[in-house]
Amino acid sequence: MTISNEIINKKWVLKKRPIGMANKSDFELQEEQMDDISENEIILKNKFISFDPTQRGWLNDAPGYLPPVQIDEVVRAMGVGEVVESKNDQYQVGDLVIGFTGWQTYNKTVPSDTGRFRKLSDKFPIPTTLNVLGATGITAYYGMVELGQVKEGMNVLVSGAAGATGSVAAQIAKLNGCNVIGIAGGESKCSWLKNDCGLDEVIDYKNSNVADELKTKAKNGIDLFFDNVGGEILESALNHINLNAKVLLCGGISGYNSTEPLPGPRNLMNLVIRRATIEGFLVMDYLPNSQKALEQLEEYLKNNQLKHQEDILTGIENCPDALNRLFTGQNIGKQLVEV
Ligand SMILES: NC(=O)c1ccc[n+]([C@@H]2O[C@H](COP(=O)([O-])OP(=O)(O)OC[C@H]3O[C@@H](n4cnc5c(N)ncnc54)[C@H](OP(=O)(O)O)[C@@H]3O)[C@@H](O)[C@H]2O)c1
Repeated sequence: MTISNEIINKKWVLKKRPIGMANKSDFELQEEQMDDISENEIILKNKFISFDPTQRGWLNDAPGYLPPVQIDEVVRAMGVGEVVESKNDQYQVGDLVIGFTGWQTYNKTVPSDTGRFRKLSDKFPIPTTLNVLGATGITAYYGMVELGQVKEGMNVLVSGAAGATGSVAAQIAKLNGCNVIGIAGGESKCSWLKNDCGLDEVIDYKNSNVADELKTKAKNGIDLFFDNVGGEILESALNHINLNAKVLLCGGISGYNSTEPLPGPRNLMNLVIRRATIEGFLVMDYLPNSQKALEQLEEYLKNNQLKHQEDILTGIENCPDALNRLFTGQNIGKQLVEV
């Protein structure tokens, strides 16, 4: 018996390429009847969709690390779904699966072909799995531990520190005995970082001047800068790097909606003077071997050592809004849509 013919999928497709911030009219919410399921396929009923700033880049017709989402294609996104029908021996009805589910209520896929789906245990709630145990938490782990080599006594600066990636990165640095400064927008995000996450110093970039604040708050300089923001914040931080410092470029969200090419930091010569390195990285390269990161992150969670927040909107109709919240800072922690 097949239930696929009874399923109506609601899906957001890209209708035109956004200029600047995405507009709801750049997308269209469509309904379609699901086709019959074929050999090796599974049908997922999506439960949660993850919103990540990089999704904005996928909407541009520009070369990137993944191909652009095409016009009339479902908007690409990670998510978690439950198998509701399976013609694949590896997957049973009821299994939870994480992968590129997209902005839609159902999807049909051959999971082993794409390599972009994996089964999930139900050890942690799904929102935690998409946050600390998802791509953002794994990014934070590999950035801080493998590339940043955090160790006791280091002076660490994290921008975008209250977000999904930044908050885990900053807390991993704290758990490794570093002195950690976080930069975030607004009083309540900064107070969460200081009082709940235990950061040593915070800078509210929306209500103070980062360049001035760093003069006092980073008086011992910066050994490791985990940058999620780029732009002026990156330039200000480069003025305070120590000898042999490392600058990790995780992201540059301040420029993702820019319609003009962005100016580079004017003080790159500081890297020469301080014999520092600057390195970009992508979590995609680490996902196939994420076991080590997941074990450590699960351990932190079990010991209640990592604070985390999920910001959940309910209903597939909220996808375009959920994306934009990342760029206005409305999201309090990991942005998700519960389908
Ligand atoms: N390299 C990788 O593989 C990888 C993987 C995952 C994420 N990332 C990067 O990590 C960064 C954070 O991603 P996330 O998924 O964890 O999102 P997030 O931090 O949970 O949400 C985005 C946050 O960025 C901040 N923001 C937005 N516009 C800003 C601006 N103009 N200036 C300063 N801050 C701004 C906002 O926080 P405030 O309220 O504090 O402004 C917002 O809450 C992004 O740059 C993303 O591309 C990279």
